[in-house]
Amino acid sequence: MSVMTVEGFNAYYGSAQALRDFSIELQAGEILCLLGRNGAGKTTALKAIMGTVRPESGRLVLNGVDLTGSRPEEIPRAGIGYVPQGRRLFSELTVWENLEIGLMTRGQGREGLDYALELFPVLKDRMKQRSGTLSGGEQTMLSMARAMCVNPTVMMLDEPTEGLMPSAIAGIRDAVTRLRDGGVAVLLVEQRVDAVLSVADRVAFMDHGEIKARFHIDEVRDNKELLHRYVGVGH
Ligand SMILES: Nc1ncnc2c1ncn2[C@@H]1O[C@H](COP(=O)(O)OP(=O)(O)O)[C@@H](O)[C@H]1O
Ligand SMILES: [Mg+2]
Repeated sequence: MSVMTVEGFNAYYGSAQALRDFSIELQAGEILCLLGRNGAGKTTALKAIMGTVRPESGRLVLNGVDLTGSRPEEIPRAGIGYVPQGRRLFSELTVWENLEIGLMTRGQGREGLDYALELFPVLKDRMKQRSGTLSGGEQTMLSMARAMCVNPTVMMLDEPTEGLMPSAIAGIRDAVTRLRDGGVAVLLVEQRVDAVLSVADRVAFMDHGEIKARFHIDEVRDNKELLHRYVGVGH
């Protein structure tokens, strides 16, 4: 059984359609990468799952529970962790205060946080530091740790490596694969193909609000032409 099923999301900004029959299924212990150019609708797809963009039609099922139409505060509680594009930390608050907000979202236990601090031990030494003063990589770690506070069965990350230095990117990729290896179902949004080839199990290409193609990673890893057809040369 799929951990998460999204079926036929259609969403609009005013009269502009941003999602067209958007559907994905996620299994435990896999990384599905959602790829697409700027403006393809990747962020909107994640927001629609999180309930902050309301699709006009479609269904969302998590661990067999129908969450369609749930309020935005109910979605993380049901077990979907979300690292939004640009991280969306409270930069004036300390590391610990940002994590407390994650804990309040879940409203129970702190196993997820303990696991996150094992994954990112550097955060333990930074608890009293204002999050805005962390390095880019550390801010992404904090955003991931905050998302892990809900003990997620699904983790969605929206371009988590955007703007990071190569060494920081490697650390984030490593953390994402460890989550996957621990059984979490991961939906990873990226714009650059080279960012996903080493971690993805499957890829889905999105354009104009629609998934145009889906591949198992073995089908695309050595097929640069195919990749560029969907994401564009230079990516
Ligand atoms: N809040 C919004 N209001 C109106 N249009 C939006 C809004 N957010 C995104 N869009 C438009 O929806 C389309 C998809 O955007 P987005 O989901 O951010 O794409 P991506 O994350 O793939 O870059 C784009 O054409 C974008 O301009
Ligand atoms: Mg985006």
